[in-house]
Amino acid sequence: MTTFRDNPISPELDAPLYQQLYTHMRMSILSGELKGGRKLPSTRALADELNISRNTILNAYRQLMAEGYLESVEGSGTFVAHVLPDFLLTAPRHTAPKNAQPLWAESRLPLFSEHAKSQMAASQPPSDGKPPRPFLSEVPALDAFPYEIWSRLVVRQARRMPVSTFMYQDSAGYRPLREAIAAHVAVSRQVHCKPEQIMIVPGSQGALDLASRMMLNAGDPVWMEDPGYPGARGAFLGAGADIIPVPIDDEGLVVDIGVARAPGARLVYLTPSHQFPLGVMMSISRRLALLDWAKRANAYILEDDYDSEFRFAERPLASLQGLDDAERVIYIGTFSKVLFPSMRIGYMILPPPLVDSFLKVRRLIDIHTPMLEQAVLADFMIEGHFSRHLRRMRTLYAERRNALLEAAKELPLEIHSPEAGIHCVGWLPNGMNDLSVVGKAAEYDLDLTPVSSFSIHPLARKGLLLGYGGYSVKEIKDGVRRLRALLRSV
Ligand SMILES: Cc1ncc(COP(=O)(O)O)c(C=O)c1O
Repeated sequence: MTTFRDNPISPELDAPLYQQLYTHMRMSILSGELKGGRKLPSTRALADELNISRNTILNAYRQLMAEGYLESVEGSGTFVAHVLPDFLLTAPRHTAPKNAQPLWAESRLPLFSEHAKSQMAASQPPSDGKPPRPFLSEVPALDAFPYEIWSRLVVRQARRMPVSTFMYQDSAGYRPLREAIAAHVAVSRQVHCKPEQIMIVPGSQGALDLASRMMLNAGDPVWMEDPGYPGARGAFLGAGADIIPVPIDDEGLVVDIGVARAPGARLVYLTPSHQFPLGVMMSISRRLALLDWAKRANAYILEDDYDSEFRFAERPLASLQGLDDAERVIYIGTFSKVLFPSMRIGYMILPPPLVDSFLKVRRLIDIHTPMLEQAVLADFMIEGHFSRHLRRMRTLYAERRNALLEAAKELPLEIHSPEAGIHCVGWLPNGMNDLSVVGKAAEYDLDLTPVSSFSIHPLARKGLLLGYGGYSVKEIKDGVRRLRALLRSV
């Protein structure tokens, strides 16, 4: 018996194969097509049936298991869970008509927009809220955050905020915070702007979402770093954009290939200071070539400067925004790495002609970012705590980076010493399968992410993202020991 009426996997689609399978199976479970208690075929049998690799099936099964849709019974196999996670039980159930169409086309499911469906397929699983394990990459040093100072500032602001701040506020954000950010980026990132160009947003993700809505029509081509940040790709899918993958080499985004693939692109997304995930810094000649093309093509550049405050090398490189003389760059900064991600505060620095229009649309989304957090952050910056914290973090991250590089000498990985940020990439020896390694990580109390999960086109090499920022030197050394055992076992 076949498991699906039609093969739900298509290499033509943008989403990785495992994600397509995950989404299809999840929807099939929710719709009742795959009923609770049904035994699923073995990963090998399903791989044969769908003509894809077993690892792809394994990854989709693992994700569904982690989210409670599937259960594994030792010695018996994998089953659709009898009891679905609570929050799913409130989702409307539908009974499948006989000989129904493939899942996405069926009216028995909620009628989501095509854009939302493509975003759902690209969406990453949520954080499980548990303390992070090495070497999850997105974690800053939460163990070194000055909680005492922060909570003192929260209490002080909560006590003294005037009643007027309880009204709706300016969509651009709290003025003193914008002034503090303008002063900070001028010094640390050579970004030139007035506070009027700054809009406080709910993290980089808020900036990416707003920029996509503002700049993209359905079908518009957008250059996207490949491999690249899934949050950006997801935002562009929300606008129905045509995502054009542009490869990265050791000088960063290969501008010529972007121009050859989509000379009329509307938007370019990139992380030039510390490419995510590979860590490459874009060369100055590439930066100038990109700015020159954008000027001629009347395109905009989204510069995501998510973690470049932490540079270890001497050489500071001006931001693209600082080099731009034609108002082409929308600069995005975030406090997720420099402070903590649940703060949900980031900022966009807009070319002056865009400001009013962005504000008008922002007023129809979330209106503005909550005031208390903005006011506390402004105090934190104005009173010097932020720059002190950054200085301490630079030293701490350099220590943690060095600990990882030293300990990892015993691993069969190739690691290029990262010049910035809080993660690096460990390239696996040829022939070693990244997904097999990642699949066993939990057994070794590790949290590993394959570089391939960020790529649209398959990469020539397989690698792992190794975050070091969020772990003590001891945790890093112990983690490397466990990683060595894991790599030996595959
Ligand atoms: C490339 C990149 N941009 C931005 C972010 C941060 O996003 P946000 O500010 O929405 O938390 C991350 C987090 O991992 C990232 O990797």
